[in-house]
Formats: sequence, structure tokens, C-alpha cells
Amino acid sequence: MPALKVPRREAEPVKRRLKSLGLYDGKRRPRREGGYVLLPVISDPRIEGLGYEVLPAELPLRPERQIYRNLESVLAERLSEEELKHLRRYDIIGDIAVIQIPPELEHRVEDIVWGLRKVHPFLRVIARKGFHEGAFRIRDYSIIWGERRLNTVHKENGVEIKVDLSKAFFNPRMKGERYRLAQLVRDGERILIPFAGVLPYALVIARYKRVKITAVELNREAYELGRENIELNRKKLKGEIEFIHGDVFEVLPELPTYDRVISPTPRGVDALALTLSKAEGWLHYYDFVHEADIEAFRERIIEECERQGKDCKVKIKKVSDFKPHVFKVCADVKVVD
Ligand SMILES: C[S@@+](CC[C@H](N)C(=O)[O-])C[C@H]1O[C@@H](n2cnc3c(N)ncnc32)[C@H](O)[C@@H]1O
Repeated sequence: MPALKVPRREAEPVKRRLKSLGLYDGKRRPRREGGYVLLPVISDPRIEGLGYEVLPAELPLRPERQIYRNLESVLAERLSEEELKHLRRYDIIGDIAVIQIPPELEHRVEDIVWGLRKVHPFLRVIARKGFHEGAFRIRDYSIIWGERRLNTVHKENGVEIKVDLSKAFFNPRMKGERYRLAQLVRDGERILIPFAGVLPYALVIARYKRVKITAVELNREAYELGRENIELNRKKLKGEIEFIHGDVFEVLPELPTYDRVISPTPRGVDALALTLSKAEGWLHYYDFVHEADIEAFRERIIEECERQGKDCKVKIKKVSDFKPHVFKVCADVKVVD
């Protein structure tokens, strides 16, 4: 597969440009070579005209893609090439595998279970997933193999997270995002996390940084699991977590301002003005945005900053695909004064 050989200091801007042109191959990882970085690109005639050397390179797949590829190769024994094209990405949460099975593979459920167990012998439950429902964003699952439970302990970024997929939202794909935020945080910060769920963001940040976190969650069962998670990780945490059970729109107006606010906003909820009003230094605001509307989203944030008399710098980062052309994005908003 092709790669673009780019001097190290130019790697980040070139990567951004490749992404905006749709030429960056996010399934593979870049690799450093001396003073250069090999950036993974897709096969496309446009890559020749970018002014950098194009060469063939075996760049490793990102880990989540690699596991997925393993399932694909195991199932190649039983499924046709056409059927393999319909195989979706799946998640491993503790000892539970969660997979979406499209109608084209309905007759292959047993083979998919066999393949998943072969690739992940530690699995105890395999569930197929439906969609996130209601204000608490709980998915609809049906167990297709194994023990009849949807609770487990998931390990991520050095913490253990008790989850119950039938009672509370949890998304293992945000692991990299939680790590990114934990790295941005400095010791001593006071942090507010509304829509905190079972506390994955709070735990990962408090695991590594001496901070004071206030987290807010409305779903009683997520709140209870979050409290258990604080106890489960107590000895490992450098920071402190205060967890409030309540509605963000009622609780936040009563709270002071914080150095940093992290809002994993549920889809369809607009908490921009409220969360921004609580941020002294940084707001990380998650939302779901069509790629054609990313600039409008940025402008909406800038307008809200102006309305609140704040001078802000806004960077929008695509965090994951949600559906074709719609991304989960994070707006990193720096409040300058
Ligand atoms: C997208 S989930 C994020 C959960 C968690 N931060 C995570 O990443 O796993 C949004 C969370 O907000 C909670 N929620 C929804 N509306 C709320 C409200 N008005 N006040 C407090 N929490 C709310 C839901 O129960 C859910 O746990």
C-alpha cells in the first residue's frame, strides 16, 4: 500500500491536508524513518501531484483494525467474499463481544459466533447490538451466545470500568480520546464533566493527574456504577472525583466555574451555552456533525463565545465515524480571556 514520505516537521500539516482531501488512510499507522515520516495514503492518482515521494510501505494496521482483520481471516474459511464485505466492526467490552449483524449476514450468525470465539477465546457473552435509545443513550442488545448478562468489567487506559450495557451507556471506542484528554490535563486543574455516564473520562484523567473532578449524571444506574468504579479504582487514582446524581441543566447553574469542562454530550442535546459558561480555560465539547456543517459548527461556537464576552480559539477534531458523512467531533475551545 502506498505511503507519502514527508519531512518530520511537515508531517502534521500534510496529514491534515491529506485528511481534508480524503486521501489519508486512517486504517494504517504512520511510521518514522530518520528525519521523515511515512504517512499512509489510499491508492489514488492525486497522491502523485502533492510534491512528496510516494513509495510502497507495509505500515501496520491500527490495533482495532488488526483484530477486525483477524476475524475476517478466520471467517474466510466459512463465508464467501461477498458475505465478508458485509462484516461490520465489533467491540470487545470486558468479556463481552458486541457486533452489529446486517440483514445480508442474518443466516451466518452461528459462523460469526464461531469466528469471534476463535479469535477471542476469553469471551463469555456475544451480543448483537441495536441502536442507542432514549435520553440515557442505552442500546438495545440481544445475546446470541453465552451467559445471559450484559454486565462486565472493562479495562482501559490503566483503569477498571464496571459497565452494564443494559442499564448505562458505554463506548469503548473513545479510549483514544480519553487518553488524549488525560494528556492535555495539568496537575492541579479543577475539571467539570457533565453527562459523565459510568465515569470513564473521570477515571482515566484522575488515574494520571492530581486533579479535582466534579461529574454529573442523571441515569441513576449509571450513577451507581460510577460510584462503584470510584471504589474499584480508589488506590490507583491520583485525582479526586466528586459525583453528583442529577440533571445537568439543573445542577450546572448552581456550580462554580472550572479550569476545564469536558462535555460528552448525548446526541440531539444542546448544552453548548451552559457548558461554555462554566469553562474558564478549556471546553471540550462533543457533538455529531455532518461533514458539510463543520465550519457552521465552529462559527456557532465562536458566536456563543462572543455572546458570553469570551475570546476563544476553536479547533474541531473528527473523533469517529457515526454514519456516512456524519462524524462525532470534539470542539477543543480555548478560552483566551
Ligand atoms: C453519550 S453518553 C456519555 C456517557 C459517558 N461520558 C461515556 O462516555 O461513557 C451521555 C450520558 O449523559 C446522560 N444524560 C443524558 N441527559 C442528561 C442530563 N440532562 N443530565 C445528566 N446526564 C444526562 C446519559 O444518561 C448518558 O450517560
